[in-house]
Amino acid sequence: MARDRTLVGIDVGTTKVCTLIGEVTRANSVNVIGWGVSPSRGLRKGMVVNIEEAVASIGSSVEKAERVSGFKVVSGLVGIAGGHVTSLNSRGFVGVSHADKTIDQEDVARAVEAARVVNIPSNREIIHAIPRHFIVDGQEGIRNPIGMIGYRLDVETHIVTGATTAIQNLTKCIHRLGVDVDQIVLEPLASSEAVLTEEEKEMGVVLVDMGGGTTDLVIFIEGSAWHSGVIAVGGNNITNDIAVKLRTPLAEAEELKIQYGQAVMSAVPADEMVEVSTFGRGTPQLVPRAEICSVIQDRLVEMFQLIDTEIKRSGYSGLLPAGLVLTGGTAETEGIVDLASEVLQLPIRIGRPAGVHGLVDAVGRPSYATSVGLLLWGARQATGSSESRMTQRSGRRSSHDDNLTVAGRLKDFLRIFLP
Ligand SMILES: Nc1ncnc2c1ncn2[C@@H]1O[C@H](COP(=O)(O)OP(=O)(O)OP(=O)(O)O)[C@@H](O)[C@H]1O
Ligand SMILES: [Mg+2]
Repeated sequence: MARDRTLVGIDVGTTKVCTLIGEVTRANSVNVIGWGVSPSRGLRKGMVVNIEEAVASIGSSVEKAERVSGFKVVSGLVGIAGGHVTSLNSRGFVGVSHADKTIDQEDVARAVEAARVVNIPSNREIIHAIPRHFIVDGQEGIRNPIGMIGYRLDVETHIVTGATTAIQNLTKCIHRLGVDVDQIVLEPLASSEAVLTEEEKEMGVVLVDMGGGTTDLVIFIEGSAWHSGVIAVGGNNITNDIAVKLRTPLAEAEELKIQYGQAVMSAVPADEMVEVSTFGRGTPQLVPRAEICSVIQDRLVEMFQLIDTEIKRSGYSGLLPAGLVLTGGTAETEGIVDLASEVLQLPIRIGRPAGVHGLVDAVGRPSYATSVGLLLWGARQATGSSESRMTQRSGRRSSHDDNLTVAGRLKDFLRIFLP
């Protein structure tokens, strides 16, 4: 029943909190029935720094989405980012347990569990352990080993870790609203669900989510995530640079950026002037538009250089024929594709969320990639799973979603990553 497959995605971004409520119609397809966006408070560079403020803005976004949809939110998929996120690749192996040596889902789950046994500091925890490929009795490059015969199953995984306190603070904010956290999902992984094609992921591509506080990236090769990273610079830094350079309030700088911004300074006429209200002066001043664009260009070039360094650091820079897909609010900057192509020397395109229906116009912009992606992430698990109810029609919210057992969740989680 469609109502049983209602999903909730909560993207707690640095500039906005976006809650989406959707119904799964089929795999990779979600009908959005509720949405709520609130300005974000109490977050810095993707991390909660003030619980009370964060609770208030998340709460307001959830309530708006509830009002639009007529559902109460019981639990949701929640995005996480921030400079505390790191990743590594790890291998695990197990002996195949079945007497006839046929590999089943339990063996896969045990192998992934074994790969999770990595040395990480006690103040960090694993957010994702994503199978990249499997090895059956030494035979490499197997995408889905279920049903194969073998004695030994190895798995190569991509492991994403985060600071325990950052994860706990985010979870605490959601719990304070009486909403359970169904799963924490790395934001760029969620965004990739909404903006990348299977072909791009297969060929080799970088997803870059340029938000307000952070720039997050994930490298996909042969269909799965091989590397992820978070760079603690975003669109807010551009706004800040403009405010400092022109001596204007931040709100004015943000408006100038959105209205007159262009990533390639030479694309704007040298004599075009823009009215700017500056501190300490009663009347607006005339400033060359090119001056604003030069600030934007300088900061974006720096951000692309940091992205370039991160791609090189991953060791996969030669394996990305599908290039780079830019999403997140900052990807809406005019001319950004030209600048990114010049600095990174890769094919570049803007990633707009796909795979959602309903309130499509509202959520079709790059800044909604993460929230749409959270729904699609959930949809992949809900397809074939009997229970995934994150909302209820009326009554009190329960603080725990006991529809899914831990084992059930793990199996559902693995289902996403197996073709
Ligand atoms: N048309 C535009 N041109 C340039 N920048 C834009 C435009 N629209 C939005 N932005 C910028 O995008 C940023 C917000 O992006 P987004 O909504 O993806 O961030 P977020 O998810 O709240 O933050 P984060 O993911 O970093 O925690 C802001 O810095 C905003 O100024
Ligand atoms: Mg974001």
